[in-house]
Amino acid sequence: MVTVPHILIEKLTLQYRTKSNTVAALDAVSMDIPPRSFVSIVGPSGCGKTTLLKVLSGVLRATRGRVLLDGRSIEEANLSGKIGQYSSVPCSCRGARRSATFC
Ligand SMILES: Nc1ncnc2c1ncn2[C@@H]1O[C@H](COP(=O)(O)OP(=O)(O)O)[C@@H](O)[C@H]1O
Ligand SMILES: [Mg+2]
Repeated sequence: MVTVPHILIEKLTLQYRTKSNTVAALDAVSMDIPPRSFVSIVGPSGCGKTTLLKVLSGVLRATRGRVLLDGRSIEEANLSGKIGQYSSVPCSCRGARRSATFC
């Protein structure tokens, strides 16, 4: 069983650098998420949800700030095999009902 750690996010900042400019995707984001929490990150397109999850999973390195998982940095915490990603897809209730009928 996977144990969900205490996640401490402190002043996390991430800037994407493109050829022509710099995009501030995260600007000093802080959160303190207790162990075994179920958390939803909600916001409009482009507000930085995916970027935050990429930093938490070690895919991207923050420009500034830090993330601690049970007191350990992402590099120290071995995340291999412990993080999964699910994409949301539009769901048609009518289609779902029809599918259920045929089951
Ligand atoms: N690889 C990238 N290079 C440059 N800018 C990016 C890149 N990925 C995302 N961005 C920009 O960073 C901001 C946050 O994007 P993102 O984290 O994908 O938001 P969300 O997942 O909430 O829609 C947006 O302005 C987006 O255009
Ligand atoms: Mg996204």
